[in-house]
Amino acid sequence: MESKFIINGRQPLSGNIKVKGAKNAALKIFPVALMTDEAIKVVNVPDIEDCHRAQEMLVALGHSVKNLGDGQMQIQRQNKTCLNLPAELVNKFRSSVMFVGPLLATCGEAHFPHPGGCVIGATRPIDMFLDGFAKMGAKVKTLENSYHLTAKKLKGASIFFPKVTVTGTESLMTTACLAQGKSILENCAMEPEIPALADFLNKMGAKITGAGTSTIKIEGVKKLSGGEYKIIPDRIEAGTFAILAAAANSGEIIIEDCEPKHLGALWAIFDRNGVNYKLGKNSIKIFPSAKIMAENVVTHEYPGFATDLQSAYTVLMTQAQGISLIHETIYDRRLLFCDTLTQMGADIIMADPHRSVVNGPTKLYGRKLVIPDLRAGIALVIAALIAHGKTEVSNIYQIERGYEGLAERLKNIGADIEKI
Ligand code: EPZ
Repeated sequence: MESKFIINGRQPLSGNIKVKGAKNAALKIFPVALMTDEAIKVVNVPDIEDCHRAQEMLVALGHSVKNLGDGQMQIQRQNKTCLNLPAELVNKFRSSVMFVGPLLATCGEAHFPHPGGCVIGATRPIDMFLDGFAKMGAKVKTLENSYHLTAKKLKGASIFFPKVTVTGTESLMTTACLAQGKSILENCAMEPEIPALADFLNKMGAKITGAGTSTIKIEGVKKLSGGEYKIIPDRIEAGTFAILAAAANSGEIIIEDCEPKHLGALWAIFDRNGVNYKLGKNSIKIFPSAKIMAENVVTHEYPGFATDLQSAYTVLMTQAQGISLIHETIYDRRLLFCDTLTQMGADIIMADPHRSVVNGPTKLYGRKLVIPDLRAGIALVIAALIAHGKTEVSNIYQIERGYEGLAERLKNIGADIEKI
């Protein structure tokens, strides 16, 4: 039977909560295992559904994945790598597309359907990946329900991304490591997960410079070795817990094992909201605030305000004094969850698919909720935690795609939440 969360809201929250390894870093590191015959050890792997799917993909492609316990995994090639990415896995997470470049670079071929993932944008295209592979010399065939890519030998290329793309940058940077000659990628994404991935590839023998800036240069190498990779802390999880603490506004919450410097845009907006916080080197303390003030937000590529924090911030604004404009610039379906918040008592007007206006503060009330996607899901859990009464949350698979042991960790800071 399907699992649900039952949440009784308005319990005072306080205490310590630890941040896990970053989902969006882990999902980019697993495919790198296809590019070496040696073993790779990955440390601080979050125990989440999307990582389980990525590990299943590695097994389907002929690798062994050993769980060494305590968030440590060892991956090693066992059989000849398969050239088909299984549809049932590709449909479940978008970053399955990260496996394409390594397959193409090492086997000269990859066959896969359009990747799935959160339904937060009209189609979530992969045109920039396909254009990039074509520039590196791959033949790209778009079939009725899938793509078929072939390349005898990939060649380094100069690629200017027409739009900033996180996974596109990561995919082409990774693939270029085994292409012949030099690649220059321009208008790259700069999210912290990108230099983290480049650091690991460089440890394996790649020659990447500039990751974390908008221009990345890669000198192709003949082969990569194995290595060990420690996944960086999940900045979105840390930011989400900080927003939860501010929204609950009931006690001191200490968020541990995180990188506060990856969340500069959130601290800038918290200053304007009047949220009472203190940053340590690897921790964040949120204290109760006298009053939370409304403040507009515009989502932006890193280092701007992350689209992945927009939904949680929208919930915070339902508790703030005044009117805030939420401008979601990256995706056109990420504000749809506002309808559910309105059913819980929020006063939100949807101006258009990219902008909503929140009038706060309002009381929220528990309801029966069905989770539409990961980040809307965690936002609705935050809403339930501060709402009056009981909320029943279903389709929690979407939340478990990205948050490990959420109910347990929230219980530890005083939440009344049960997974049934
Ligand atoms: C990454 O998605 C993250 N996912 C997303 O996190 C995050 O919301 C997003 O970056 C933006 O920060 C992972 O890292 C696994 P993009 P990604 O390519 O790389 C368009 C979460 O909740 N585009 O930067 O898929 C695209 O449609 C998730 O953890 C094209 O048009 O995002 C979007 O409008 C969800 N063509 C924009 O670019 C392409 O070929 C930015 O997307 C590729 C993307």
